[in-house]
Formats: sequence, C-alpha cells, structure tokens
Amino acid sequence: MTTATKSGSAKSDKDRVVIFDTTLRDGEQSPGATMTHEEKLEVAELLDTMGVDIIEAGFPIASIGDFEAVSEIAKNAKNAVIAGLARAIPGDIARAGEAVRHARRGRIHTFVSTSPIHLEHQMRKSEAEVLEIITATVMQARNLVDNVEWSAMDATRTPIDYLCKCVETAIAAGATTINLPDTVGYAVPDEYRRMFKAIRERVPNSDKAVFSVHCHDDLGLAVANSLAGVEGGARQIESTINGIGERAGNAALEEVVMAIKTRGDVMPYWCEVESTMLTRASKLVSAATSFPVQYNKAIVGRNAFAHESGIHQDGVLKHAQTYEIMTPESVGLKQTSLVMGKHSGRHAFQHKLKDLGYELADNQLQDAFVRFKALADRKKDIYDEDIEALVDQEIAQAHDRMHLVSLTVIAGTHGPQRATMKLNVDGKMRIDEAEGNGPVDAVFNCIKALVPHEAKLELYQVHAVTAGTDAQAEVSVRLSQDGRSVTARGSDPDTLVASAQAYLSALNKIVMKKQRDMPVAAAGH
Ligand code: KIV
Ligand code: ZN
Repeated sequence: MTTATKSGSAKSDKDRVVIFDTTLRDGEQSPGATMTHEEKLEVAELLDTMGVDIIEAGFPIASIGDFEAVSEIAKNAKNAVIAGLARAIPGDIARAGEAVRHARRGRIHTFVSTSPIHLEHQMRKSEAEVLEIITATVMQARNLVDNVEWSAMDATRTPIDYLCKCVETAIAAGATTINLPDTVGYAVPDEYRRMFKAIRERVPNSDKAVFSVHCHDDLGLAVANSLAGVEGGARQIESTINGIGERAGNAALEEVVMAIKTRGDVMPYWCEVESTMLTRASKLVSAATSFPVQYNKAIVGRNAFAHESGIHQDGVLKHAQTYEIMTPESVGLKQTSLVMGKHSGRHAFQHKLKDLGYELADNQLQDAFVRFKALADRKKDIYDEDIEALVDQEIAQAHDRMHLVSLTVIAGTHGPQRATMKLNVDGKMRIDEAEGNGPVDAVFNCIKALVPHEAKLELYQVHAVTAGTDAQAEVSVRLSQDGRSVTARGSDPDTLVASAQAYLSALNKIVMKKQRDMPVAAAGH
C-alpha cells in the first residue's frame, strides 16, 4: 500500500515511521527540567499541531500534577495519540488508564525490566515471575484501552532468548507496540539493528505488533542507534525535543526527523512531522525548561546554519548547497535582515519573532513588545539574541504568581551589601530589605525575607547574551526542594535584576508544582 504524504509524494506504508515524543515524560524527568502545568499544555499543543504521532504526556501515578497534565492533554489533543506511562503495577496501570480515558486516541505504556542485572538487584524477581507479570499487566491495560505499548526496560542488556520470550508473552497478552529501549545508552548501532532483526524473525507473533526504539545518549549514539533500529524493522521512534532526558538525554526528535527527511537516498523511511516547526518547538521547550540549547547542537543550535570561515561563506554565497545539506527554512529558521531598535513598531517586532521561530498568543505578544520597548530605551542595538532572551523570559513567566516590581541594591567596597525589593505576590505588594555577603546574596536573602521558603540554591550562572558592556546578562538559577529541582532563567542589562528574575521564576515553578503535586512514586527512565 502507498500513502500520499504531506509533501504530495507517494510513499510505501511499510516505510512509515511513527514519531513518539516523550519530552513531557522522559524529558521532564531529567533533573531541573521541570515544567509547569501550563507549559506542558503549551508544549503538547505544539507537538500535536506539528504532526507528532504519539505524545507521552507524563507518568500519571507519579503525582497529581502529572495525572492532571496527562488528562488535560488527552482531552485537548486533536490528532496525536496520548500516552500515559505505568510501571508493571496494577495501581499504576489503572491510574494511566484513567488519565487517558478522555483522549480521542489514548495509549497505556507499561514497562518492566528484563535484564539480569535489573531482575537480580532491583526487582529481585525470577525470569518466570517477570513473564507472569507481563501477562497480567498487559492484559489489565488491554482491558482499559485498545492501544497498549509494552517496554522491556534495559532490553539491550537482556539475553536475546529471554527477550524473545518476553516479547512473545507481551504480544500474546495484547500489546500492540513493543518498545525495546537502550535504557542505559550502552548499545552501538549495528548491535541494536541486529537485536530488532532477530526478535522480529524469532518471535512467532511478531507481525502482530509495531516495534519501537527508545535510545539514551550516554555514548552520544542515541540518534544513530534509533535509525539502526528502524533499519532492523522498528517503525516507531521515541525521542524528545532538544534531546532532553535522563542523564545524557534521549534521541533528539529534530535530529531523527531531519535525518530521515534529508537522507531519503539511503533510507526509504518517512514520517509526518512538519519539519518547519522544529525550531519553534526547540525554543518553546528550551524556554519552558530553562535548559539552554548548545550553540553547535545539530538542527536547532544557534550555529547550526552559521558559516564563519571565509571559504565556507564564499561557497554558500555562490551556491548554498556547497556547505548546506538542508536549508534553514526547512527547519523553520528564516534568514532575516530586519534590524530592531527603539523605533521598531509592533508589526516589525511580530515579524521578527516569526522569523526567529516564535509564535506568541496576543497577550504574550503585547507583554513581550512592552519589554522590548523598555529594553530598546536602555540599549542601542537590539540583537536577535536579545529578543530571544526577552521572549524566553516572557514565555517562562507568563503564569507566575510572584513578579519583581522594583529592586535597589547598594554594593561596593564598603559592605555589607544591601538590597531593597518590591514584589507583586498574587496581586498584593510586598516590600522588604536584606543584607548579604555581596549583592547577589543580598538580593536572594531579600527574596527569602519576602517569600519564606526551604528551597536550596543548586546553581547560579551568568553569561552575557551578546558582546558589549551594555549587553544583557542572562542568569540561570537552579533551586531544589523535596528532591525535585527546577531551573529558570532571567535576563536584563542589570545583572542583579536578571538574578532576581531568575530566582523568582524558579521559586514560582516550585510553588506552582507543590500546589499540584503529591509525589507517590518515581518513574523509570
Ligand atoms: O529508558 C527507558 O527504558 C524508559 C522506559 C520507561 C521506556 O524510559
Ligand atoms: Zn528512557
């Protein structure tokens, strides 16, 4: 059978690869990447719009917040299948089933470890016991939804004979997708390809399920392994935007999609993700998690399409393909010559945002424009990086309950340094002052005086957004409380204001998370 793809060309259905995004589950699980409820909804909406086939929206048993996010995403999704993760425990499966109940298309994704090291040291179960668990839990999930994914955690370190038995058991119990993760990022591509080939050949009922790859990037091989798994017969790729995820992260969705799209000459596969929305997705996830995207990151890094050396620039000017294997436009990056300054109007600002890959709601656009005007009054040249920092802050702070109103700091050689701050907390003004061992300490002490809290500061980092002494400072702050850490950024030409913004933004996230969450369990990875 063939299908007409979005680009109009006819492709064989057997080569269709479905894209499963786990940014909101495996991605959000990585330390510091916590997103608020509203941010999760926004990310899910974008993933749905850009043609991601399956969105793993969270781990419903983990907390009330996770449950609420999965249920609301399930209700809102227009096209994508919405999956909820569950351990091989009846309570987890029931909760995941409840969370995806209202989805037009819901999936329960249940997993259990299969490798000897996990069975012996973590689960303390025999192989036979695990086979029984697989049957019982997959059957329970199938009684709740038609669409059940079963994962063999640590599949790549599981002896193939036992893995075959597990897969056969899961399919016999009703699993419709079989995921064989490289949980610890240990596999190399050919080995991973051969594992899928062997399983598909040896498991008698393998034709009844779709096979899936899920790769971690501990050796930097996650994308290569994912593509090798597809060559071995898998037709679902699990990935995250910007490659965020446990430890070194997961396979990056944007890299997988562009590799498939760009190398059709050697890989006949295709997927339905709209690649021109990749830049926007990357920026949204980076802003929501406050995880910066490394400058030289493939596809979405700031330098991914920049040509610095004279020879390269000369070549690209003569013929773009001399040094460009894909166009910036194909990933949603527009070449722009629009220079921004204090005379730029709302329309030009909106145009610039679009070129940079952002799309804001009307109220967010208005607030960002006001901030832009304020910045342009203080800083002569406004670079793209300035606008990116400003908009990222706008996205991250859109639902905050505490806002900085004013800050005055006395610093210099004669300490102690002193900060006076006014905050708007839920619409009420609070003012206080505090001393500190240096101006940053004074600012943070002042926030503690205004909003008493237990969170610990884990990271404080400053970098200049652009060159020049009038450059904006971008400050990253990571706070942790109750075993959960959150990261946030703030930017301003005044480093102390940026520090206060970043700290407050992280504190807002903790407060909002606490309101929703009642931690019950920790997920796998
Ligand atoms: O890496 C892993 O094994 C996982 C499973 C829960 C699918 O994330
Ligand atoms: Zn994982």
